[in-house]
Amino acid sequence: MAKVIAISNQKGGVGKTTTCINLSAFVALMGYKVLVVDIDPQGNTTSGFGIVGESKDNLKHTIYDVMMGDATVKETVTKTTVPGLDVLPANIEFAGADVELMNLEESREKVLRRALAPIREDYDYIFIDCPPSLNVFSVNALTASDSVLIPMPGDFFSLEGIAQLMNTVKLVKKHLNHALEIEGVVMTMYVKNNLSNQVAEDVMRWFGKSVFKTRIPRNVTLGEAPSFGLPVVQYNPTSKGSLAYMDLAVEMLKRDGKKAKPLTGLSSYKYKQPPTGAGNKGGKEKPASKTK
Ligand SMILES: Nc1ncnc2c1ncn2[C@@H]1O[C@H](COP(=O)(O)OP(=O)(O)O)[C@@H](O)[C@H]1O
Ligand SMILES: [Mg+2]
Repeated sequence: MAKVIAISNQKGGVGKTTTCINLSAFVALMGYKVLVVDIDPQGNTTSGFGIVGESKDNLKHTIYDVMMGDATVKETVTKTTVPGLDVLPANIEFAGADVELMNLEESREKVLRRALAPIREDYDYIFIDCPPSLNVFSVNALTASDSVLIPMPGDFFSLEGIAQLMNTVKLVKKHLNHALEIEGVVMTMYVKNNLSNQVAEDVMRWFGKSVFKTRIPRNVTLGEAPSFGLPVVQYNPTSKGSLAYMDLAVEMLKRDGKKAKPLTGLSSYKYKQPPTGAGNKGGKEKPASKTK
């Protein structure tokens, strides 16, 4: 039975999509069956996996059809270049679906949960990439999930923003999904300086142990990979950004009491965990090379 994790933060540009693509790719390569659900009409996760989603012509179905009841998840999932990783794609046509969903009289917040129910047995992990707002899509994602993973950029901590997100989580937990938990907070785009130290302290104070020890550094490779339609592990596997997401995947699996299968081509970087509280110390940058 899949564990469903919503990657959520209502602020845009904090690393939700980057975390979704790269964490899920590593978890799949470490031996787990993974489904990525793109519930952001911008479709960045969809295109980041090389699935062209700008026009409906390119995709037989999207999550839009699934949520409207016009297609099943099974006939909509698309395979990716990563073995064991499927995507439930989105595209811009999905943008108007919030209005249609709002018009549903009954349990419109549970549409995604119901749609995913028949395929939860087929996967070990389902990651949902949320849009940058606390709208009906995000609420659907939280209602469908076991936990929420919050990416937090190293240079910005908004107490107000976090209070708002936590309040939504609380409301969903109370009214729609009692089992919802906090998976953790991952610091993204981390650059070591006074500001990020301050942000890290605030985040620790607010979230305590649920903050992942692994911090994702600001790394240009992470920004480049999506334009090649590849997760960073297939674009530049030994870049600092790639190694950081590898560490994050291992740390998350370890928290779940799960093992990570060694990765071909990355054996010398065998799952080094960063020291507690310190920034991520990935390996040396190497020229781009592709794994299988
Ligand atoms: N650690 C990082 N280092 C460098 N660039 C990053 C990093 N994480 C994300 N980015 C880039 O920042 C932008 C916003 O990230 P994205 O993951 O799309 O955020 P969100 O999904 O929260 O809007 C993208 O262009 C992405 O490529
Ligand atoms: Mg995004």
